[in-house]
Amino acid sequence: MRTLVLSGALAGGDRMPASRRLAADLGVSRSVVEQAFDQLLAEGWLEARQGAGTWVSGGVVHRSRTAARRGAPAPERPLVMLDAGTPWIDPRHEAVWRRAWREVSTATPPRGYDDPRGLPALRTLVAERLGRTRGLAVDADQVRITGGIGAGLRHLLAVVPRAPVALEDPGYRAAVATVHESGRTVRDVPALEPVRDLAGCAAAYVTPAHQHPLGRVMPAADRLTLLATARRDGALVIEDDYDSEFRYDVAPVPALASLDRDRVAYLGTASKSILPSLRMGWCVVPDGWLDDFDAHRRLTHDAPPWPVQRAMVTLLRDGYVDAVVRSARRVYAERAPRVVAALSPHAEPLPARSPGCTPPGCSRTPAPSGSARPPRTPGSG
Ligand SMILES: Cc1ncc(COP(=O)(O)O)c(C=O)c1O
Repeated sequence: MRTLVLSGALAGGDRMPASRRLAADLGVSRSVVEQAFDQLLAEGWLEARQGAGTWVSGGVVHRSRTAARRGAPAPERPLVMLDAGTPWIDPRHEAVWRRAWREVSTATPPRGYDDPRGLPALRTLVAERLGRTRGLAVDADQVRITGGIGAGLRHLLAVVPRAPVALEDPGYRAAVATVHESGRTVRDVPALEPVRDLAGCAAAYVTPAHQHPLGRVMPAADRLTLLATARRDGALVIEDDYDSEFRYDVAPVPALASLDRDRVAYLGTASKSILPSLRMGWCVVPDGWLDDFDAHRRLTHDAPPWPVQRAMVTLLRDGYVDAVVRSARRVYAERAPRVVAALSPHAEPLPARSPGCTPPGCSRTPAPSGSARPPRTPGSG
């Protein structure tokens, strides 16, 4: 019954059949139906009037009820997926993945726990790519393989002081959850303004290449201000570089970490270029934090599984990652104006570089009472 309401087949005010008839239709005893009705009444799905029967509660009316009531199929409308976490999948993916996996199957896994830093061959390939695509001149010794940006953040939080973490507002909800999970508080910093105060913070978590969810590139002046503030206040800057390669107007802006390797921990991921289900990422940790970071990883054995790392070696070595990023860029470049055009009757695009504006409804900071700003809704970024 819950499913019928949620799908719109039943709507508020629809009358439920009598329990005796429903029991007969379903081939169950009447007490089973009565128990189910009691449960649904208690949960607020149903309303009953003494002696008059049972109805679907008025508060659960579903949008498509009119069509469903009339027995008409829901109108055919093209669905547009606006979920931020689902990348375009390259048509070559299956063949390439099978090849990578065949290679894994003929390689011999290590006998014990593997190198906690990650497979040396993978670190070499990642280091080469970071230099070429992100302006980060690192060698394999400085790269660590992680289970994605989330895992990298968890490992970093294991080694920075137990103090609040500054986070862009609006910002990445998974990072907020991870900071809370580490027992720390989040200090909101307005996403589109320069960060001038990190006093008392262990770290600042930022998405400079493509602010999540607003999409702005952090301007050079704000980058320098953030780094100067972090140096002055002794905070680590954590750079979430989740989709920097997908710029179609200008060349990707070099990583923030390229401006200060001693202050910025860089986190990268395969979630946007290959697949989020791989749970594969990499990080470059400043020397001052690296020994503790490695010790933590050695202690927890929390590196991605060897087969996934080994498959990623093939994907990088054979140029697949570069190829897929090139193709995806073309696809996204073509999609972007279509999305803007489709949404233009309802919203204005945020200018890519305009500072100081937080769209309504996006902030983590509660709106003051009486404010017209709607509360932030789940899933709003
Ligand atoms: C801001 C941001 N960071 C990171 C990620 C990906 O993280 P992970 O590597 O843990 O999949 C996403 C995915 O949607 C994201 O939006």
